[in-house]
Amino acid sequence: MSRCKSLTMLLPIVLALTACGQAPEPVANSKATDTTTSAPASVPVTNASAGAIVITAQAGAVDGYAVNSDEFLWQLFTEFAAPAQAGVPAPVVFETWASDADTFSTTPTWPAPGAAKKFQASVLGGANAQTHGAIDVPCVQPPNGALGGFPTSGTPTPCIAEEVKRNKPQFDYIVGNNLNTQAGLAAAYANNVDVQMPLSAISIKGDWIKVPTLIAWIPGLDNVETVREYYYTYVENGDTGPVEYALVSLHISSRQNANWVWGSLEHELNPGRCDDLGCYDTFGAVEPVVLPNRFQVNSQYGSCDKSAALQLLMSNAQLSPVWQNYCMKSTQVDYSAADGTPYALGNSVIERITGNGTVVASSCIACHVYASFGSDGAPTKAATAMLPFNPTGEPIPAVLDGALKFDFMWGVVHAPAGGSVQKPWSQSKN
Ligand code: HEC
Repeated sequence: MSRCKSLTMLLPIVLALTACGQAPEPVANSKATDTTTSAPASVPVTNASAGAIVITAQAGAVDGYAVNSDEFLWQLFTEFAAPAQAGVPAPVVFETWASDADTFSTTPTWPAPGAAKKFQASVLGGANAQTHGAIDVPCVQPPNGALGGFPTSGTPTPCIAEEVKRNKPQFDYIVGNNLNTQAGLAAAYANNVDVQMPLSAISIKGDWIKVPTLIAWIPGLDNVETVREYYYTYVENGDTGPVEYALVSLHISSRQNANWVWGSLEHELNPGRCDDLGCYDTFGAVEPVVLPNRFQVNSQYGSCDKSAALQLLMSNAQLSPVWQNYCMKSTQVDYSAADGTPYALGNSVIERITGNGTVVASSCIACHVYASFGSDGAPTKAATAMLPFNPTGEPIPAVLDGALKFDFMWGVVHAPAGGSVQKPWSQSKN
């Protein structure tokens, strides 16, 4: 198959062994004693007890489903990464959803078919969430590029474009209940509203890199055709002509659980993809556990070959073959393991390069639980103070004093000041 052939040519040293469907040989395993690769989901492979500070989040239960969170999120993924229109490869379904600029606006609008993407700057990338500027910001130079070996100079200037999308049930809930502006949120606060999104609500957050920068970054990648063969790409009509971006990472959250179901995908070529936390996937990966390489940072981890079950889901949904090259880092449904050890889950690009620099102490649930708004409809200082240092473990109730939770969705920080409240909450609550 062409994928196998050209990858072998491209990356002979790192990937030749793993790109052709042979069992990948995790680099980390060369020195690790525990090379377990088939642990059941319920048994944490990392040393959960014995005083570990955190352990990598493991798949868990999903309300109303018999499958675990790995399988559940892969199922959702094959639905929202499918072509929006059968037979037309792009856009895919999630690209037709609402961005934060579409949602958190005094004039919220569900995007028209074919509307251009609206990228935004990561709030986690150092900006103060209480005073950030316009939502709709294009590609931004990430604060922690050097950590990931990401180019820090070059032409075009290396940058990462971040995208957040919310599906229609979530958009309708936010807009239908006037939660899209600070005025509406202030009214919700006055009414002590319990913000509860519908179970079908989904959000994604994706990081995109301009193709020339990607080529400069990824070892062995040297031309645009190969990028298009291995990555999902998007062409923007820039001021000086078309600009092509490749998707490198994708966060997913689903409201199916009260604390949401969280997962993160990484392109298989992301440097240091399984560093620190390892990679865990009980459903989609042939190799369910890839231990971190503790001896070298930003190394390559080979391909994450897909299980027959996931391949079937992907082909049934008519997914482009490029999606075979995206790997689940792990999924998270709890704050902590059964013995109280906090769970950690973070992405080598979204948290480490674009965000605040930490993967090993990142916990999706433990940070998102503080997504909230105060009496004026803006997030409180106490809540946004949690963003720079990555809280883990169970939530600290006092942080939410004087605030109401926004059902784990941090996008609330983008709600603009102003706005009018057409309907009081008591009438519109569903
Ligand atoms: C330290 C805090 C923090 C951690 C850890 C964190 N996030 Fe977020 N996340 C945010 C903030 C702040 C936003 C909104 C602003 C932005 O995009 O920067 C956000 C936005 C998102 C969104 C868009 C929906 C929304 O409004 O919340 C998704 C999806 C998401 N994160 C998924 C994840 C996943 C999956 C993980 C774990 C792998 C994770 N996040 C870890 C702070 C965090």
